[in-house]
Amino acid sequence: MTQKPNPLNSIKVNGPIPAHLARSVIEETLRSAILDGRIPCGTALRQQDLADLFGVSRMPVREALRQLEAQALLNVVAHKGAVVAPLVQGDAAETYALRILLESEALRLSIPLLETADIEAAARYIDELETEQNYTEIGRLNRLFHMSLYCKAPNQRLLRLVEDGLNEEERFLRFNLEAMGLGKLSQEDHRALLQAAQDRDVERSVKLLENHLNRGVEVITRYLNSPESQSKKTST
Ligand code: NI
Repeated sequence: MTQKPNPLNSIKVNGPIPAHLARSVIEETLRSAILDGRIPCGTALRQQDLADLFGVSRMPVREALRQLEAQALLNVVAHKGAVVAPLVQGDAAETYALRILLESEALRLSIPLLETADIEAAARYIDELETEQNYTEIGRLNRLFHMSLYCKAPNQRLLRLVEDGLNEEERFLRFNLEAMGLGKLSQEDHRALLQAAQDRDVERSVKLLENHLNRGVEVITRYLNSPESQSKKTST
């Protein structure tokens, strides 16, 4: 029987962690290891292993895992505990259909309340996306661009759901932009959306956002049906 390498070996812990920082250090460390694929989908994370690795009690570990579960990076599975979530949970078309509903509403509520600083921040993210080559950064900038247009929506619960959806997409983009040979994200959509938001044209903004997200569904569906992703599924 061959022994599988332990994904936790990829995590380096630098010295003792002060108790009051334990939860956030563990959360951030695991988050980036999940996002960059060092801890692959389907890996079960045991609380005691993590407590040993970080040299802390199980309490901050439990809290960190709960945060990561809330960010849709982990699922709690009976008899296995916390398991790293698949790249796209469930059906991609359903996921995007929900995102379109939620993000359209957030955009609708936010646009009339946007300030110049929000518009400027959005424009800056587009400029950065234009030159950024690193896929991790591209995923992050895409999320920040979208959030900067939704951020004034007064419904905090809605915004949290919107951000969960964007986090999921960010993770997908990090892994797959390169694999899909997409190169860059299309900036035309982003620019048109920003212009419409700046003009306070709610209906045009929502229409552009719907088209933008529908293109996302197409790309992801094409990827999930591709031979490459099929072989990945069977080999893990
Ligand atoms: Ni986008």
